[in-house]
Amino acid sequence: MADELTPETPEAEAEEPIKQRKNGLYPGVSDELAENMKSGWADTELRDLKPIEQAGNAARRRAALSERFPGERLVIPAGTLKTRSNDTEYPFRAATEYVYLTGDQTDGSVLVLEPRSGGGHEAVLHRLPRSDRENGEFWLNGMGELWVGRRHSLAESEALLGVPCKDVRELADTLREATGPVRVVRGHDAAVEEALTDKVTAERDEELRVYLSEARAVKDDFEVGELQKAVDSTVRGFEDVVKVLDKAQATSERWIEGTFFLRARVEGNDVGYGSICAAGPHATTLHWVRNDGPVRSGDLLLLDAGVETHTLYTADVTRTLPVSGTYSEVQRRVYDAVYEAQEAGMAAVQPGAKYRDFHDAAQRVLAARLVEWGIVEGPVERVLELGLQRRWTLHGTGHMLGLDVHDCAAARTEAYVNGTLEPGMVLTVEPGLYFQADDLTVPEEYRGIGVRIEDDLLVTEDGNRNLSAALPRRSDEVEAWMARLAAERG
Ligand code: GLY
Ligand code: MN
Ligand code: MN
Repeated sequence: MADELTPETPEAEAEEPIKQRKNGLYPGVSDELAENMKSGWADTELRDLKPIEQAGNAARRRAALSERFPGERLVIPAGTLKTRSNDTEYPFRAATEYVYLTGDQTDGSVLVLEPRSGGGHEAVLHRLPRSDRENGEFWLNGMGELWVGRRHSLAESEALLGVPCKDVRELADTLREATGPVRVVRGHDAAVEEALTDKVTAERDEELRVYLSEARAVKDDFEVGELQKAVDSTVRGFEDVVKVLDKAQATSERWIEGTFFLRARVEGNDVGYGSICAAGPHATTLHWVRNDGPVRSGDLLLLDAGVETHTLYTADVTRTLPVSGTYSEVQRRVYDAVYEAQEAGMAAVQPGAKYRDFHDAAQRVLAARLVEWGIVEGPVERVLELGLQRRWTLHGTGHMLGLDVHDCAAARTEAYVNGTLEPGMVLTVEPGLYFQADDLTVPEEYRGIGVRIEDDLLVTEDGNRNLSAALPRRSDEVEAWMARLAAERG
């Protein structure tokens, strides 16, 4: 970052809280300028603000949390900025637990549920207020609003979020002095954790994290709506990519990554995870995010990408497309097997079904095809029992989806992997077959082919709804869809 974009205070001074500085001692700033900067600013306080759409949902989630941990102080930080390289930070992404309980995404904020003497909790949000103009903070501090943009005042935040707000700079001292049981969601705010070092235990904090992971398994109507929005934007992003496959062939996988990213940034907050834009043999690398390889006609393109909405719900969708617009004979054979496996998996997504059922159903199809092709010795039961198909299927067939792409990850095994599907859960079904380019155990024609098909399903009262059904999946439908988009390209 250029020098002129660095606040004028020398480093030693900058580390001191501005409020402790003596008036008139701004280094490099004349008294007259300092005085001048204090005044002449309009009152921009926003009045009559309406609560954000999910304020009521967040309040219900806090009430459930309050019931689970009576009498305990619960501390849920939003997280802090992380340095990418000197003077530059990674784009901030608020902690999922904090977003779930507040609907807010402000860095440095902390939600505290304070136990009330008569039972229940009072929620308080600790956050930075507007920058002070009297002490110069707004223009001399790198976190001042002149540098990072206008913040909501505490009163504005209260109106928007429906939670009383306090200045976060007093929180660490308050927490240090507080008595009584306390738990914190770890891993997001080192200063908050430091203030609580002597009061918390890893085991009790983990119980809080587990609760918040399991609570997210069943989505409310707002969340389902957001996930549908994420998927709808993602569908448009996939269409964008198909329309620029000629440009990708002239450059690299990066053109695909950039094209999808544009859609994600314009319609949402970001991508929900690093886009996997894997052409040719890169498709056999599960998390290929370098995206620096060539895109060649005759190869497959495995695109695994998801738009994250402004409220931070993400889609997670994969299509494996023939760059030329038509699958070769062997590509189609592999693709159709994965499609068949996905169909079997999706049919097993039903309320009351075991979570594992859809995985088992898909794996059975893939194992059968591998036996049929002579790649692994049958019978299929033997293959499944020994898990021999996994050399080529590699990963589980899906996962919960929500604010995190791999949502609910801290849930207990009995509540998730060994659990039962319920209406309102949203999960991916994403079988794949991956034949590494150097896998000498498969016929040569399979080597370097990787196929995954991934859709996002809502468990309903009587079955499921495929939120990503707008993207074609069957091989002939994919080809027809690509031909239509290529014709639009002209
Ligand atoms: N995109 C990561 C996954 O499919 O799980
Ligand atoms: Mn996935
Ligand atoms: Mn995916």
